[in-house]
Amino acid sequence: MIFLEGKKIILGLSGGIAIYKVANLLRRLTADYNADLQVVMTQHAQEFMTPLIFETFSGKRVLTEIFESDHLVATRHIDIVQSADIFLVAPATANIIGKMANGIADDLLSTMLLVAEPKKVWLAPAMNKNMYLNPFFQKNLNILKVSGCHIIEPETGELATRQEGWGIGRLPGEALIIDKLNAAAAPKDLAGKKIIVTAGPTREYFDKVRFISNPSTGKMGIALAEAAAILGADVTLIIGPSHLDLPHNCHNIRVQSAQEMLNALTEIFDHCDALFMAAAVEDIQPQNQSGIKIKKETLGDSIPLKPTVDILNELGKRKSKQTLVGFSVELMNMTENSRKKMEKKNLDYIVMNNLEEDGAAFGSDTNHIWIMNRQGDVEELKPDSKKKLAFNILATVFNCAKDEQA
Ligand SMILES: Cc1cc2nc3c(=O)[nH]c(=O)nc-3n(C[C@H](O)[C@H](O)[C@H](O)COP(=O)(O)O)c2cc1C
Repeated sequence: MIFLEGKKIILGLSGGIAIYKVANLLRRLTADYNADLQVVMTQHAQEFMTPLIFETFSGKRVLTEIFESDHLVATRHIDIVQSADIFLVAPATANIIGKMANGIADDLLSTMLLVAEPKKVWLAPAMNKNMYLNPFFQKNLNILKVSGCHIIEPETGELATRQEGWGIGRLPGEALIIDKLNAAAAPKDLAGKKIIVTAGPTREYFDKVRFISNPSTGKMGIALAEAAAILGADVTLIIGPSHLDLPHNCHNIRVQSAQEMLNALTEIFDHCDALFMAAAVEDIQPQNQSGIKIKKETLGDSIPLKPTVDILNELGKRKSKQTLVGFSVELMNMTENSRKKMEKKNLDYIVMNNLEEDGAAFGSDTNHIWIMNRQGDVEELKPDSKKKLAFNILATVFNCAKDEQA
């Protein structure tokens, strides 16, 4: 969901080699996110790239000089900072960070940074690993951190030149920077709420290496957890085996089996406001578990099964103030079967998926869902990305603003 639309962003560019990556960041912020960008460059930044490319993508003259004769009002740089929603410096050199941390204002960008409220400032340091790890630089960075500036930590990887080799100091990709800014611009509709989301499959082992499971990847649950955290909730994600990256804005707990998932839930369920049970919990497990790898010859031709613990049933009995949201995957009689499940398990909402539809399968980036409430009213959320649907599921459950449906 796009929260950056119309937001006023100052993009400060200082003289680091990673500046070449920022042209694309700027293009995406303006073209894809409709944000209103004002670029400011230091003298040294202009040694690496000319303002022309940034002027073209922002549609505005790039500001470079503090003493400029064609300013209508000499203090315009102060007005620009005060009316901005976000002040991003990327790449942020060791020099600009050192200047800001020590209150130095000797050019336009450093002066504007001192005008800004620290909580609106986002710094993306990028430099050679020795510069980054240097104790004087780290001290300066820490001063800014504790003052409330947001630091977009550099990544570890191949640095700009062969001589520099591998290390910390790379500017992260534009997607990560945009995600962080977009989250910062989101309304905090769920602030103060404690939300648990479960995701992914579970694995029910019958020996050391073999198990029963299903093809769930955890995408829908991860999208829900991320979205709830973006809207300000305190989110715990309990996830079965998944190869996907876990959200950086949630408390993540990894589990294997249905029983482990229930154990993790039991510890925190009483204190949560809502549980979204998006995990595809395996409902069968082998009757016996061997601690070793069973030899093929002794496996036999059948594996005796028994049901796993019914997590929603357990928590449905236990719930007090919590909103309980179940997910159902049905191949036939979706609404009727989901209604029965909702009643039996004491749910407040059930999110229904139809697995037979194109673009709604396990692992897909998109989904088509229907949400039923306790009264039996069904709302359709048209096919869309799981990321966007996640916000709209939350909007239905917590009655907050929805993104327009396609
Ligand atoms: C080729 C080259 C690459 C540089 N890359 C970086 C860099 O990635 N990060 C950094 O902090 N400084 C880098 N520097 C050093 C800065 O350009 C220098 O400290 C400069 O004074 C920064 O000025 P500014 O912060 O006003 O833009 C580089 C210098 C050169 C010549």
